[in-house]
Amino acid sequence: MNYENIYIEEEGNIAVITINRPKKLNALNKRTILELHTAFKELEEDDEIKVIIITGSGEKAFVAGADISEFADFSVKQGRDLAAEGQELLFDVVENLTTPVIAAVNGFALGGGLELAMSCHFRLASENAKMGLPEVSLGVIPGYGGTQRLPQLIGKGRAMEIIMTAGMIDAAKALDYGLVNYVMPQDELLPLCLKIANRISNNSPVAIKYAIKAVNAGFKYDTNGYATEIDAFGTCFGTNDFKEGTTAFLEKRKADFPGS
Ligand code: COA
Repeated sequence: MNYENIYIEEEGNIAVITINRPKKLNALNKRTILELHTAFKELEEDDEIKVIIITGSGEKAFVAGADISEFADFSVKQGRDLAAEGQELLFDVVENLTTPVIAAVNGFALGGGLELAMSCHFRLASENAKMGLPEVSLGVIPGYGGTQRLPQLIGKGRAMEIIMTAGMIDAAKALDYGLVNYVMPQDELLPLCLKIANRISNNSPVAIKYAIKAVNAGFKYDTNGYATEIDAFGTCFGTNDFKEGTTAFLEKRKADFPGS
């Protein structure tokens, strides 16, 4: 697929996806969602890529939401389909990706933008970042998982307030709430993401895949997190990564994981 609205840069084992519609504050239109879906799937298949970072182009926005111009005249059915297709194509894909995904929130992350950041495995923000779910100010509710993931990440009461007021919180409050793990000056955001990504890339990709699966299982209504953990824990014992990791430890050397 030819990418028009995103670009991908690779640095060693790390891929950085940049959403590139700065004039529209990187708003997520249909094409961008499809491009992101394709990019995430391709990078997940690429054994060389151990971590993915996603960010927005320009200094103002990560993503200022779903593209309002695309759905302003939608019917009930079109509205439902928009949410269902978006969740299936992008937000659920990111959350369940077997490759770790870090959001570098470098400015506004509103509506679908915050929902995208929340689908990522964790988030870092720049000092100028502002986050919110303004949908009720447009007469609609968050439809890309925001009503579920925000309470999971920061608790029900805080999430209710953010959703009902349609207001924005700044980076310091997001840090205080645990919505982001670190807040950095804008020019230090990507370097810190890369540093953390590098640390992750030294570990077993297979074990990380199962860890993501087990953590996510605890937040799904139809899976048992503890049972998933037990299964995944056992499965790890049959992997080459486990053999390499334990052997390297006993031989007092750094592990070189085959990723299988
Ligand atoms: N969908 C479509 N276009 C968007 C957009 C969105 N979610 N967010 C911003 N844009 C566009 C604006 O329409 C404007 O386009 P134009 O130059 O062709 O008029 C451009 O991006 C720049 O935005 P602008 O509003 O001029 O910037 P600002 O600095 O004055 O305000 C925001 C920034 C983020 C506060 C404001 O753009 C905003 O409120 N955006 C919508 C946020 C939202 O409700 N998101 C949830 C959608 S469900």
